[in-house]
Amino acid sequence: MKALCWYGTGDVRVETVPDPKILNSRDAIVKITSTAICGSDLHLFDGYMPTMEEGDILGHEPMGVVAEVGKDVKNLKVGDRVVVPFTISCGECFFCEREMYSLCDNSNPNAAIARAAMGHSPAGLFGFSHMLGGYAGGQAEYLRVPFADVGPLKIENDSLTDEQVLFLSDIFPTGYMAAENCGIEKGDTVAVWGCGPVGQMTIQSAWMLGAERVIAMDMVPERLAMAEKHGKAETVNFQDEKVYDRLMEMTKGRGPDRCVDAVGAEAHATGSLDSALDAAKAAVYLGTDRPHVIREAIMCCRKGGTVSIPGAYVGVMDKLPLGAMMNKGLTIKTGQTHVQHYNKPLLKKIEAGEIDPSFIITHRVKLDDAPEAYKTFRDHEDGCIKVVLKP
Ligand SMILES: NC(=O)c1ccc[n+]([C@@H]2O[C@H](COP(=O)([O-])OP(=O)(O)OC[C@H]3O[C@@H](n4cnc5c(N)ncnc54)[C@H](O)[C@@H]3O)[C@@H](O)[C@H]2O)c1
Ligand SMILES: [Zn+2]
Ligand SMILES: [Zn+2]
Repeated sequence: MKALCWYGTGDVRVETVPDPKILNSRDAIVKITSTAICGSDLHLFDGYMPTMEEGDILGHEPMGVVAEVGKDVKNLKVGDRVVVPFTISCGECFFCEREMYSLCDNSNPNAAIARAAMGHSPAGLFGFSHMLGGYAGGQAEYLRVPFADVGPLKIENDSLTDEQVLFLSDIFPTGYMAAENCGIEKGDTVAVWGCGPVGQMTIQSAWMLGAERVIAMDMVPERLAMAEKHGKAETVNFQDEKVYDRLMEMTKGRGPDRCVDAVGAEAHATGSLDSALDAAKAAVYLGTDRPHVIREAIMCCRKGGTVSIPGAYVGVMDKLPLGAMMNKGLTIKTGQTHVQHYNKPLLKKIEAGEIDPSFIITHRVKLDDAPEAYKTFRDHEDGCIKVVLKP
């Protein structure tokens, strides 16, 4: 089959690789019909994620048709249409029982590496480094899905297009969990850093969960425009204005009640000293992240407020204002998304016409053209906000 393989920083290639096979009785093989590129893939593309190996197949936002099932997968049959969550979860461990699927204890065969880096291992993820399982990803013609009796979400309503339901694999649940983690209360102002796909889904979800006002930050004009048009958000271009000053002005000095970092490890920050130091450290492997946004969100958040972090971070970092966080009494909530906990109720919202997440798609390309699409997406060229690949 054809698959998009990682070879190093900025180097991904479409290659012919062996077809995946059923290895365990709870596996299924899915023939991929649509699969997206995520901002998380950019952390791999840009070389921020350790334990990648040459030839690793990327991709964790796939959907398709079941082509084969292992003997213990009773809930799926060949021909079923499914969306596959990016989190691989056993459904039976302490964490899965509590619906904290991204923390599954049984799905990372390389748990020892993750434990050494983080104290404990989270779940295995598709196409997301060896530390997180070494699983082949879904930017390919076929995908082996472990624990297929737990993960895949069946789409039985044929009137829904792939593009309407594809983002149940990741970014819609991610935006929703980010907003839910805010603990939004009546009258709250929610500030969202980043108007990429995750930021856009967070904005939509913040309204669903009762926000009174949503303010969104980015520097890319078409992403800000989408946040205004589809997200009904007020926007701040961080290249034109100082975010802290603008947010204080907009909230009469109190600060936004709920702050969401939907940017993560690769924040831009023109002209700020902290980001210049982060970039220099990252360049010589002395630092792993560029955490400008999380610092800014902590400084801006109102006293007693919540900072929710869907943005992905990979390692350790310094100059994090823990003093501000502690003294202002902030609540911090974060995590890889517990996709299986959210995707059924969110599918209902799509079916009910409450949201059609396909509004974020700007580019549809063949799998063969994925390497070019990675660059277009990373560099925000050609108005690119979200790419769907059609294997
Ligand atoms: N928690 C999860 O389970 C989960 C799931 C999916 C994605 N993610 C993470 O969410 C983050 C966003 O993903 P995405 O697909 O939207 O990525 P993206 O790269 O398309 O979007 C990031 C946006 O942040 C903007 N940005 C950069 N610096 C900024 C700053 N200083 N202030 C405000 N905005 C800034 C960029 O211009 C860009 O539009 C990534 O870190 C990704 O890894 C996490
Ligand atoms: Zn993702
Ligand atoms: Zn589990």
